Amino acid sequence: MTKLFTPASIGPVTLRNRTIRSAAFEGMGKDNNPTQMLRDYHLSVARGGVGMTTLAYAGICRSALSFKTQLWLRPEIVEPLREITDGIHAAGAKASIQIGHCGNMTHRSTAGCIPVGASSGFNLYSPTIARGLRPDELKTLANQFGDAVRTARDAGFDCVEVHAGHGYLISQFLSPYTNRRRDEFGGSLDNRMRFMRMCMEEVMKAAGSDMGILVKTNMRDGFNGGLEIEDCLTVARELENLGAHALVLSGGFVSKAPMYVMRGRMPIYSMTYYMKQLWLKYGVRMCGNMMIPYVPFKELYFLDDARVFRSELKLPLVYVGGVVDGPTARKVMEEGFEFLQMGRALLNEPDFVNRLREDECHRCGCDHVNYCIARMYSREMACHKHLDNLPPKILKEIERIKDENAKVR
Ligand SMILES: Cc1cc2nc3c(=O)[nH]c(=O)nc-3n(C[C@H](O)[C@H](O)[C@H](O)COP(=O)(O)O)c2cc1C
Ligand code: SF4
Repeated sequence: MTKLFTPASIGPVTLRNRTIRSAAFEGMGKDNNPTQMLRDYHLSVARGGVGMTTLAYAGICRSALSFKTQLWLRPEIVEPLREITDGIHAAGAKASIQIGHCGNMTHRSTAGCIPVGASSGFNLYSPTIARGLRPDELKTLANQFGDAVRTARDAGFDCVEVHAGHGYLISQFLSPYTNRRRDEFGGSLDNRMRFMRMCMEEVMKAAGSDMGILVKTNMRDGFNGGLEIEDCLTVARELENLGAHALVLSGGFVSKAPMYVMRGRMPIYSMTYYMKQLWLKYGVRMCGNMMIPYVPFKELYFLDDARVFRSELKLPLVYVGGVVDGPTARKVMEEGFEFLQMGRALLNEPDFVNRLREDECHRCGCDHVNYCIARMYSREMACHKHLDNLPPKILKEIERIKDENAKVR
C-alpha cells in the first residue's frame, strides 16, 4: 500500500496521496447553486483521507444542465464554492470539479431552451426532441469550457475534470451513434474529435500553469454501434497531445448503456418511487429493465481495458471502477496507474481511505445494489445503508438484487 499513500502530481498540482473521490453526482445543489449539504459531504470525504475530492457534473452554461440540483459553474456561485474548497483544503485534500455539457440529456424546463446535441433527433431517455448545434454555437460552447476553468480557479479549485465520456455532449460528438452530421464536425473520427479539440484548446489555455486538468474519457461506449477500444485509444492519444495532465478511464453511454459505467442492476422500483411525474413513474416502472440493461458487476471491471491504455499512453492515468478494498486498490497501483478514483466506496464510507491506511485488507460495505444511483435522479445522493425507514418495497428490491449479486460473484 506504500505507493497508494505517496504524493503524486496532476500537472502542477500535488496530491497528498493517490486516491480521488470520483465525480459522482450529489444532487445536492438548489436552483443550480451549492448548498451546505454539498459542503458537508465533500468535507467528510476530505477529512476521510482522500488526496482529492471531485464535485460532480457542473454545467458550463444553462443549456448544459440536466437537473436543478446540479451546479451551474458561473461567477455568481464563486463565493459559496470558495467556502467548500477552503474547507477541503483545511482538511488536507485538493479540490476538483467536473465540468461538462449534458447535450440532449435534458428537458427544456431545465436547460432553458430546446435541448441541443451533436445531431437533431428524439432522445427517448429524457424523453425529448433535440436540435443539432450550429458551428458558431460550438465555438461559443468551447469558450464556455474555458470560462468554466477560470471560474473554477476563482472558486479555489486545484483541478478541473472535463467530462468527455458517458454519452454527454463531447461524447455525443465522438460517437457515430449520436453524431450524424455532414459538416466538418461529423463523418471521420478526426472530424468527430473536432469539437473536443476546440474545447480542450480553450480549457488548456485557461488552465495556464497553476491548474491540473483531468479528462474523463470512454474506453468503450458499451453497446453495438458505439465507440470501441481502438477508436477510444485514438481519442485518448489526441487528449494526451492536447496537453491533458491525466485521463480518467471509464466507459458507457447514458442513453444506451448506462449501467456499463457502474455495473450491476438499476433498482427500477427505487428509481421510480421518488419520481413525481406519474406518466414517467409508471412508464419507467414498465419498461425500465428493457431501457437500462443489466451489466453484471465484478471487482475492477475496467481493468482489462485500462491495461491496454496504460501500455499505449505516457501521461498519468486514473483507474476507476470496482475498487472495493485494500487488495483491489493495491492491484491498481501495481498495474502502473498513477491514481485511483472511487465512487461508491466513498459514498458508503466517506472515511474509506483512512480505514485502508489502518487496515490494508479493509473492505467497504458497499453492496453494489445501486440504490444511490436510482435515487440520484430525483433526490440528493445517499447510500441506503445510511437511511432509516425506507419503504418495505424498496428494502425488498435491495434484498433481491443483493441475492442476485451474490450468485454472480
Ligand atoms: C450515484 C452516482 C452518481 C454518479 N455520477 C457521475 C457523474 O456525475 N459524473 C461521472 O463522470 N460519473 C458519475 N458516476 C460514475 C462514478 O464516478 C464512477 O465512475 C463509477 O461509479 C465507478 O466507480 P465505483 O465502482 O468506485 O463506484 C456516478 C456514480 C454514482 C454511483
Ligand atoms: S446505495 Fe448501495 S451501491 Fe450505493 S453506495 Fe450504498 S451500498 Fe453502495
